[in-house]
Amino acid sequence: SRRVMAVDLAKRKAEGRKIIALTAYHAHTASILDPYCDFILVGDSLGMVMHGMESTLPVTLEMMILQAQAVIRGTSQALVVVDMPFGSYEASREQAFLNAARVLKETGAGAIKMEGGARFADTVAFLTQRGIPVMGHIGLTPQSVNTMGGFRVQGRGPDGERILMEDARAISEAGAFAIVLEGIVEPVANAIALSPTVTAPTIGIGASAACDGQILVLEDMLGLSDKAPKFVKSFGSLRAHIEEAVRTYADEVRSGRFPAADHTYAAR
Ligand code: KIV
Ligand code: NA
Repeated sequence: SRRVMAVDLAKRKAEGRKIIALTAYHAHTASILDPYCDFILVGDSLGMVMHGMESTLPVTLEMMILQAQAVIRGTSQALVVVDMPFGSYEASREQAFLNAARVLKETGAGAIKMEGGARFADTVAFLTQRGIPVMGHIGLTPQSVNTMGGFRVQGRGPDGERILMEDARAISEAGAFAIVLEGIVEPVANAIALSPTVTAPTIGIGASAACDGQILVLEDMLGLSDKAPKFVKSFGSLRAHIEEAVRTYADEVRSGRFPAADHTYAAR
């Protein structure tokens, strides 16, 4: 079967089939997710998850392209969406187009994602009209950590719903093929997900079960990350499994139980 394409997510929404998504940065993990996910996001969260950075701000376009190439090699079915990193798209719609085109050309990914609401509607339309499907991302947008004053849940306060609803409508109308709603208080996320004027499928993360789909950072949901946000459910405990395997390996090397005859080569 052919790869999922950006336009297919609207069909999932129309049919009432939930959109399943996770992040991946590696060929091997991506190959495990591939049969189960409609799309796989190569997120700029890789800065924190793979490199231990304190935010996503230092992530470069080259880093995104390298990991997107790995994920494409490991997959054949899921749509691969690549995050545009901080500084690669905000200056102008031309800058956004040139860098997004580079991502699609050098990786074979089917779409890009960029953070930001109404003020980026123009950029979303510019790219979409020129052959680049854009996934939006509103609410808690980690690249804005310095202007938000931390990683803060969005949608609180008297103007919370109005501002986020305008952001969602603006990028939906500009042609975004889907919108990630991250870290938004549940009633506001509900209102956006159920709004007839937000036609783009909504993908929730720390948002609402009413969204058309859900996404989580793979390492967080596997229980591999050392700390994860409140909205993450642990579907595994990889950290404990890895530690157990490493401890056993160390014990067996020390005691001489590994390598055994099975793990060495005979002369002939
Ligand atoms: O970078 C990322 O992993 C993301 C998801 C959390 C949506 O943007
Ligand atoms: Na991201």
